[in-house]
Amino acid sequence: MASMMNISQLHTNKLNESIYDELKEDSPQYQELLKSVSENGLLTPLVVRPDGLILSGHRRFSVVKALGWETVPVEIKEDGDDRVLLIEYNRYRAKTGSELMREANLLHAVYAERAELNLLGRGNTVAEEDKVDARKEVAATIGMGERTYGKLKKVYELAQVNPNAAAKMAAIDAGTISIDSAYKSIRTLVKESESKGEEKPEIPDMVKFYNSWQFSENDPRFGMPHPGRIPGQIPANIIYYYTEPGDLVVDPMAGGGSTIDAAEYLERRCIGYDVAPRRPDIQMHDISKGFPDECRDAQLIFMDPPYWNMIDEGYSDGSASRKSLDGFVEWYDALMAAAGRTVRVGGFVAVINMGQYFRLPAEFTDGYIDWPIRTYQALQRAGLTPWARVGVTYPTTLHGGFDVEAAKAGRFMLPILGDIIIMRRTK
Ligand SMILES: C[S@@+](CC[C@H](N)C(=O)[O-])C[C@H]1O[C@@H](n2cnc3c(N)ncnc32)[C@H](O)[C@@H]1O
Repeated sequence: MASMMNISQLHTNKLNESIYDELKEDSPQYQELLKSVSENGLLTPLVVRPDGLILSGHRRFSVVKALGWETVPVEIKEDGDDRVLLIEYNRYRAKTGSELMREANLLHAVYAERAELNLLGRGNTVAEEDKVDARKEVAATIGMGERTYGKLKKVYELAQVNPNAAAKMAAIDAGTISIDSAYKSIRTLVKESESKGEEKPEIPDMVKFYNSWQFSENDPRFGMPHPGRIPGQIPANIIYYYTEPGDLVVDPMAGGGSTIDAAEYLERRCIGYDVAPRRPDIQMHDISKGFPDECRDAQLIFMDPPYWNMIDEGYSDGSASRKSLDGFVEWYDALMAAAGRTVRVGGFVAVINMGQYFRLPAEFTDGYIDWPIRTYQALQRAGLTPWARVGVTYPTTLHGGFDVEAAKAGRFMLPILGDIIIMRRTK
């Protein structure tokens, strides 16, 4: 049953933007919709989550906003997977080939995740009757025959690396050529790519194959200068191993944005927050207030929190690094618990940190604070399952000259050995 909701309570779904092309305001379809809504009102209510996240009706929403409406009829939907619902609600819309392929890739990710969750729940075996022929299911869901889908997929994939194929894909999107003729015209290219083994997914250049990573330099492709910057190769590897293209990655303490750039490079979606944002694509948000709703589909929450007061210079006053040790520990535990509640089932929380040997309070009597072990304990208390641990050696430039002199004078070591604790939400 439809009810009314205030326009200001509604918000758009980033997933929608990543799959469907924007309907431009000067396009005939937009103008037609505008005319129809202003003359007849909204014949079908928008479908939204209770918090106002739109599942269906982004174009109608943009039109009613333009018309200056204050309230809009909505149908509230509480259950179901956002991704599957989004595709379902758009089933009968006319789509370009690229939009269909983006839908198909998302569905493949959903099926792969379900298969993996099945494995998790069953001690790594799946009954024969539970195996899904993903390709067949995907083709049927996007409304295509399996053979045509196979051809579109080939053209789309080759279009990412070959300009001739890209031109054919653009022609499919513009409706000036059929999928079949586009495929025929690039068949030689397809054969060549198959014989060269280009079918195999390429392994990105920064990927490490063992669980000890040493990065002596910041890769300039990822992130910008920041006092707490880590080499972007670190989030890139975590993203590579624990997410699929199209998945959502969240970095709640994004600093110079290394995670955002690495995610974009690897074609994942990413949301970054910080109390002191330094780039327009990082949103101002104090993560002590919790993870905003838009994070709830996260496959990975990657966190590079302040190492308490160790590398605090240059951080803002709102930074958690300014808290007392007790205050920081409380903040840290609450953050781990919130991440564990937010990441989706099957997703991962990965936290990088290191041991602390210096700047300890006078009343502190242990030899050091093991932040990675505390991370492990806090995530375990939050109900997550231990999944992996990686040792990371940071560039020595992490520590300023003053600390190096203090370490020499005080005969203590400065840490450059970090750990990434990776835990999984399995239920
Ligand atoms: C170690 S740095 C992250 C560096 C980042 N990974 C990079 O490579 O550039 C930690 C960040 O946490 C941010 N921060 C501290 N307390 C925060 C809070 N309560 N909410 C959000 N961000 C916070 C700081 O402003 C700082 O940018």
